[in-house]
Amino acid sequence: MSAKIIDGKMISQEIKNNIAKSVKQRVAEAKRRPGLAVVLVGANPASQIYVGSKVKACEEVDFFSSLYDLPESTTEAELLAKIDELNQDDKIDGILIQLPLPARIDNATILERIHPAKDVDGFHPYNIGSLCQRKPKLRPCTPRGIMTLLEKSKIDIKGMHAVVVGASNIVGRPMSLELLLAGCTTTVTHRHTTNLRQHVETADLLIVAVGNPGIILSEWIKPGAIVIDVGINRVNDKIVGDVEFATAQQRAGWITPVPGGVGPMTVATLMQNTLQACEQYYDINNQALIR
Ligand code: GUN
Repeated sequence: MSAKIIDGKMISQEIKNNIAKSVKQRVAEAKRRPGLAVVLVGANPASQIYVGSKVKACEEVDFFSSLYDLPESTTEAELLAKIDELNQDDKIDGILIQLPLPARIDNATILERIHPAKDVDGFHPYNIGSLCQRKPKLRPCTPRGIMTLLEKSKIDIKGMHAVVVGASNIVGRPMSLELLLAGCTTTVTHRHTTNLRQHVETADLLIVAVGNPGIILSEWIKPGAIVIDVGINRVNDKIVGDVEFATAQQRAGWITPVPGGVGPMTVATLMQNTLQACEQYYDINNQALIR
């Protein structure tokens, strides 16, 4: 068997094209363009690349964007002050604080300061809680992007056993909430899971988000399973996922490549969330954000 490839590059391009059309329409109706503020603290090379791709995507879809490239020495108080300023800024619909932050800054304090209506990462407890209670508002980008990949590939996952490997706040946990909402029986494995293989072997839908190439052996994959690889790892100057693609492809029914699978969907979904934030909170009220 050779798995069908889920082409995230193509699907993300289709999404961005549709967003660009919506922006064109907005401008024709004399409405303001959606605006995204991207905040980077310090000089983490991977974060610099991710932030660059987010700003570039804003240009592609004709959003207003502003990048705040803050020094490593930025204090928690300074970052909170920047968020307060962006919460009040009527040109800005979405605020993205690139993670990880320097260790001395408390993630939760920062993420909770972003107004939930501008929380295009979907990490604020209000947005996570809304997803948890089956009333999603702004949804975390990578899990939402994965749901879009499955929908666009016309894969019906209702009733499947989904196994999420990795329980991070950014991917694993919100992914499990998306899968529950979609009607999957959902298992989440994490660093304390004792028999990873046993869980993986029963997965109809396997989502791996660990950042460790080699954590999953291809022989564990259930024949015909859907394999979504969220890992982005640099090995011998090549970008690889958490799953060994060539061998996994021989067992799976569907598989996402790395690069060109989930990665571009995260960025395209950020654009979707920013447009959603703009439409929901400015157009409906036709006024500045209600605070
Ligand atoms: N770092 C890795 N992934 C993400 C993401 O989706 N959003 C933010 N803000 N930081 C990240």
